[in-house]
Amino acid sequence: MPAPSSSSSSLLDTGKGSKIERYNSYIRRVNSAKIMAASSKLLFRATLLTAVVLILLFTLNYPPLTTHSNAQSSSSSHRSLLSSSFLSSSSSSSKYSGAAWEKQVRNSAAPRRHNGMSVLVTGAAGFVGTHCSLALKKRGDGVVGLDNFNSYYDPSLKRDRQSMLGRHGVLVVDGDINDGPLLSKLFDVAAFTHILHLAAQAGVRYAMKNPQSYVASNIAGLVNLFEIAAKTADPQPAIVWASSSSVYGLNTNNPFSELHRTDQPASLYAATKKAGEEIAHTYNHIYGLSITGLRFFTVYGPWGRPDMAYFSFTKDILAGKPITVFKSQDGKEVARDFTYIDDVVKGCVGALDTAERSTGSGGKKRGPAQLRVYNLGNTSPVPVTRLVSILEGLLGTKAKKNVVKMPRNGDVPFTHANVSLAAHDFAYQPTTDLETGLRKFVKWYVGYYGIKSPVKNGGGGGHKE
Ligand SMILES: NC(=O)c1ccc[n+]([C@@H]2O[C@H](COP(=O)([O-])OP(=O)(O)OC[C@H]3O[C@@H](n4cnc5c(N)ncnc54)[C@H](O)[C@@H]3O)[C@@H](O)[C@H]2O)c1
Ligand SMILES: *[C@@H]1O[C@H](CO)[C@@H](O)[C@H](O)[C@H]1NC(C)=O
Repeated sequence: MPAPSSSSSSLLDTGKGSKIERYNSYIRRVNSAKIMAASSKLLFRATLLTAVVLILLFTLNYPPLTTHSNAQSSSSSHRSLLSSSFLSSSSSSSKYSGAAWEKQVRNSAAPRRHNGMSVLVTGAAGFVGTHCSLALKKRGDGVVGLDNFNSYYDPSLKRDRQSMLGRHGVLVVDGDINDGPLLSKLFDVAAFTHILHLAAQAGVRYAMKNPQSYVASNIAGLVNLFEIAAKTADPQPAIVWASSSSVYGLNTNNPFSELHRTDQPASLYAATKKAGEEIAHTYNHIYGLSITGLRFFTVYGPWGRPDMAYFSFTKDILAGKPITVFKSQDGKEVARDFTYIDDVVKGCVGALDTAERSTGSGGKKRGPAQLRVYNLGNTSPVPVTRLVSILEGLLGTKAKKNVVKMPRNGDVPFTHANVSLAAHDFAYQPTTDLETGLRKFVKWYVGYYGIKSPVKNGGGGGHKE
């Protein structure tokens, strides 16, 4: 060892003279070539170590830089769909704080009926989230929404749903389920009894264009939400979340039952929903979270999703544009178990009402907790050609149909729900047939977009409501 054995602390309490003496003797000793080599080696190592530490610190502090620039280049939209971790803790804490904001959250979260629930609804500015938030609020439950308003489809539709909810006293916070500090803050401000988790990257074919958005929202976001619910929220909330009928994938048993196999997903979307069901099992098992997964079957209705066939068909038929109608690879008709939004809302509310409490706290399980999965469908598959002819009737216009074989990119040819489990456990009973439901959708569509003719049964009233 080249350094004198005296420690730095002993250097501090000796006088100036003895310091110089020690220094001189030290210099004499380090004059040997051997020691010179050793100290330059030491200097080299110290520099290297400093560089590594600096790089490490930089990476830890700035992961969003790389994620964000990737997202920007893959999407021209104003908000990235690759939403994970682009919200830093500093941005969320500065945006969501202050007494006024907290008061708004508490107000919106407070139930107005005896023994009412307090529900955090993620994806509340989405199609299903808007309807569920409204139904819960109307019966006296407290509701706070969370949505990142991404531009997977027209964000102005999401903003209009947010305004509509605002008029009914539901606050929808603009934020991402990957933002841990924001979620913690929300649970800090309001003791939610339930989470209705509907935020997700939806759509089957878009997964080939932007696969990472499915991983970010449906896997990373789900894990982040479960983490906060298990470890931070006190008490732990019960969770009801949206899986999908797409988990049945290549299953050919009909009608689809919860007992059927779901290990052959046909799209990345389906695979992320299936992964979510397995992740739910883990969080239930380790932390005692009460979790219910709902497998929705092709939900449609007013305030619906523009990327879905019934919606885009309506738009294109009215514009006189041709529509593409799929037939299956073996030439058979493609059919869907279309489920009207009000029926799905009743199913979500029924699942919330029968959800038992989570059993853990502070990241520790205290006993076994409820874990459930249910189909929510209409139990009556309808060929897509029939969907088109109903729309033609309602719109008073003939569609220009372009019938092609369905590409093998994720869609399945046929879905049909067996809902006897949900019927048994919370009296789920779909009551709206496709024609009745589509009439309500078209009525909303022409009102919302201000379309005058040539719609039959249209009716202009109820603009944006
Ligand atoms: N509509 C259907 O037919 C159907 C069928 C099966 C399953 N589902 C599932 O039901 C749920 C609701 O679907 P929907 O039709 O209302 O879709 P939607 O796209 O209208 O609603 C989802 C909402 O979540 C928001 N969101 C997405 N990623 C987010 C994130 N990381 N953080 C915060 N918000 C985020 C979106 O902005 C959107 O408003 C989804 O989980 C979907 O996968 C829907
Ligand atoms: C529906 O599923 C239940 C189990 O949940 C099963 O007992 C019943 O036989 C199924 N019905 C049909 C028509 O397959």
